[in-house]
Amino acid sequence: LRWYPAPYPLAIEAQLAQLYGVSPAHVLATRGSDEAIDLLVRAFCAAGRDAIVTFPPTFGMYAIAANVQGAAVLPVETRAETGFALDIDRLEGVLAAQAGGAPKVKLVFACSPNNPTGNLIPCETLERLLRRCADALVVIDEAYLEFAETPSFARRLEVYDNLVVLRTLSKAWGLAGARCGVAIAHPCILDVLRRIRLPYALTSSTLAAVTALTAGEPPSIATRLAHVRAERARVAAALTRSPWVKRVWPSDANFVLVECTDAPGAVARAAQAQILVRSFHDTPALRHHVRVSIGSPSDNDKLLAAWSRA
Ligand SMILES: Cc1ncc(COP(=O)(O)O)c(C=O)c1O
Repeated sequence: LRWYPAPYPLAIEAQLAQLYGVSPAHVLATRGSDEAIDLLVRAFCAAGRDAIVTFPPTFGMYAIAANVQGAAVLPVETRAETGFALDIDRLEGVLAAQAGGAPKVKLVFACSPNNPTGNLIPCETLERLLRRCADALVVIDEAYLEFAETPSFARRLEVYDNLVVLRTLSKAWGLAGARCGVAIAHPCILDVLRRIRLPYALTSSTLAAVTALTAGEPPSIATRLAHVRAERARVAAALTRSPWVKRVWPSDANFVLVECTDAPGAVARAAQAQILVRSFHDTPALRHHVRVSIGSPSDNDKLLAAWSRA
């Protein structure tokens, strides 16, 4: 720790490229994917002039980064009635309202599987989005993709030069404390991001943790992922029988979104059992919902027991 790390973590980027099945030229390693989101907004959105599109309810960091930068946020809400499906026609409506005037849309953030709703965006929808927003960068945040059984959209990099895919070691790989994410995109886009990031972007400890993870044998998390998927199915089925639960949304992530009969009461009851679930009381569309992470079988059982009686 007494020495500076590599100013630009090229060796790690080569290993991450292998992990994600892309060429090293398409990889930029960042301090978590949060930093990639921040770099994208700072690089491509001018304050007071440009905008990002989001599809709420979704991960809050896109709007936070835009607010910090002074970029406008154009929300294209998804609705429970359609299973929170990303709706290109609604996007058309929002873009039409912008036509001719500022702010200009520079980035479109689509999260798949989406946090907190858990649904994947179908490939055809992503293709339509990339074609419709050809003048913007379409950022597909695949933070939870490993928990789904779908290949990364990074395979379409050769077709769409406006595509950016975000991956992270924080979720399926269980390395949130190492702070390592990846932006996968055309080298021209990554060059711009490299110009505005600080040197020594990843600490020595991060580089050591990532090296340990990716060096040697090709790492396998298949068994762990299979356990999470099996627990997800078990917990979802058991939750449907709880008096606190009205509906459990299907999920391709390591959490499930639950519509509750009494969300504040359900959060309090879980807390009594030392289980923290994420409440959405401040998100009007999800006021009656909580997000339940899939934990160890014993932690999951604690929550199921806590919610087994009204
Ligand atoms: C959808 C999504 N993207 C990105 C992140 C950021 O992850 P990290 O910065 O740890 O890579 C999160 C973390 O919760 C997330 O839910």
